[in-house]
Amino acid sequence: MSTTAPESVPAAKRTKLTVPEIQARKQSEKLVMVTGYDYFLSRFAERAGVDLILVGDSLGMTFQGQSTTVPVRLEHIIYHCQAVVRGAPNTHTVADLPFLTYQVDNAQAVANAGRLVQEGGADAVKLEGGRVVAERIRAIVDAGIAVVAHIGLTPQSVGRLGGFRVQGRELDSARAILADAEAVAAAGAYAVVVEAVPADLAALVTERVAIPTIGIGAGAHCDGQVLVTADLLGMEDRIAPRFAKRYAALDATITEAFAAYARDVRDTSFPAASNSYTMRPEVAAALGEEAAR
Ligand code: KIV
Repeated sequence: MSTTAPESVPAAKRTKLTVPEIQARKQSEKLVMVTGYDYFLSRFAERAGVDLILVGDSLGMTFQGQSTTVPVRLEHIIYHCQAVVRGAPNTHTVADLPFLTYQVDNAQAVANAGRLVQEGGADAVKLEGGRVVAERIRAIVDAGIAVVAHIGLTPQSVGRLGGFRVQGRELDSARAILADAEAVAAAGAYAVVVEAVPADLAALVTERVAIPTIGIGAGAHCDGQVLVTADLLGMEDRIAPRFAKRYAALDATITEAFAAYARDVRDTSFPAASNSYTMRPEVAAALGEEAAR
């Protein structure tokens, strides 16, 4: 297996970004975040120089094949986070608090955030919601854990929202999103993911808060962008969200690789001699004689 990176890829990753370094990037250099769930893809993301990896509960949909993120458990995020951190030890890693791991009370939120950091190896945690989770964010930050907030479309609330819909198109809902952004920043979040809102609204949010905004389906004015890796790599072939851009077509590449392998096995061209082990001739001869007796 070759370990040589393509020439366009930076050879060595810098040291991991700290929270103050991430905050200092507001309105200067764009932050680049991707989701990560496993060792190899995280390793490649680090090699490519991404700034942050999110162990998102989107893994419920992209890794487990569920139709929403709601069934994801804390143990799943811990398991995947451990693999990501092994693959990308020098990349700032944020782990999602899944549905119902922080909504109950502050003690639950702090204990579960602590597990993501202690057992998962995450540098920070992310949770969904605005004003309603401000108290939880404060409690987790007070426990010494860095928090990324997530406003706009919050997929864990898909039941209440009635589907994965753009948020903040009407005056009231746009005002609510601005108020959410201010609340999570005041509660101590060091960055905020803004999902599926009109680009103009995301620009206003970005102006309004002192912390970096990281957009997904939120236009170009955010301080950074996050994409779900399955979308970016062209593995998602069930839906084609408008906000996602395919930078590769791994669905076709991977399918073709499996099909080529199946062909080779069936026509016996794999394994070839070069894929097989040999034995010393005298051992082979002795075995042959024994078999002939
Ligand atoms: O779970 C996830 O991948 C996310 C991104 C969509 C921001 O929360």
